[in-house]
Amino acid sequence: MKGIILAGGSATRLFPLSKAISKQIMPVYDKPMIYYPLSALLLAGIREILIISTPRDLPMFEELLGDGKKMGISLSYKVQLVPNGLAQAFVLGKEFLNGEPGCLILGDNMFYGQGFRQMLQQAVADIEKGRGACIFGYEVSDPRAYGVVEFDKDNKVLSLEEKPAEPKSNYAVPGLYFYDSSVCDKAAALKPSARGEYEITDLNKEYLKEGTLRVQLFGRGFAWLDTGNCDSLLEAGNFIATIQNRQGFYVSCIEEICWRNGWISTDQLRELGKTMEKTAYGQYLLRLAK
Ligand code: DAU
Repeated sequence: MKGIILAGGSATRLFPLSKAISKQIMPVYDKPMIYYPLSALLLAGIREILIISTPRDLPMFEELLGDGKKMGISLSYKVQLVPNGLAQAFVLGKEFLNGEPGCLILGDNMFYGQGFRQMLQQAVADIEKGRGACIFGYEVSDPRAYGVVEFDKDNKVLSLEEKPAEPKSNYAVPGLYFYDSSVCDKAAALKPSARGEYEITDLNKEYLKEGTLRVQLFGRGFAWLDTGNCDSLLEAGNFIATIQNRQGFYVSCIEEICWRNGWISTDQLRELGKTMEKTAYGQYLLRLAK
């Protein structure tokens, strides 16, 4: 299984903050936003990752993360010239996936909660074993701004709608999707929606038609955080600060996850810590290495 992070778009809802800089590189407390979705892929055990962004912003992600070798992973980069839909990730990512299954995560989606690693690894195992797709559902009070999934008591998906005016359930679909190796062909065959975008919901509907779409629910103790406007961005930062300062463990520390996954040695972790030893983040890495 390979991973794709879609980190483009123009983030006009965060202007002027995001006018000159990519939203997904902006800080959520002590680290750039993209660290959070990147961590989710790493927790899933995915170490070959493609980052897609705009021609303007892609070089900044390359400067931030490099080729991933120092963390024992492989990162590559691809430009999306026009932000014409999330499903385009699998048109742009076809060569990268090279016939393998793929996981897509949106560069502005943040997840935190107990059991997340197990859920991710289960999704990877299910997709690698058989055909189909796995998406997630998260109950929100107002789902109208999201993809919405309706399902029966056995979690069998009944319908999917993108930003419905009258949602059939309160379950929003977070920006985290696992697909089998037919995903690139399915994405290439999609038609643009009424708003002119290649919709991820339409891609999911193809799996629904085929009868191979599964939905896993995140429980109420789980956090799927929004970063869409200034208030939610600040709240997300405060949430991360609260957890980290209370526990002493960092949330979405990419170097730590790679180390715990056995992809880098303790010496390598220490070297990474030394490059940032003036910050609490660097000190944390050095502490782990001890
Ligand atoms: O966050 C989850 C939601 O993400 C899902 O529930 C929806 O089904 C899905 O369509 C999407 O809705 P959004 O309204 O959040 O999509 P948005 O257009 O804001 O794009 C999400 C992120 O992806 C955003 O950071 C920009 C980036 N993006 C978007 C498009 C359309 C790209 O990098 N390229 C694109 O072409």
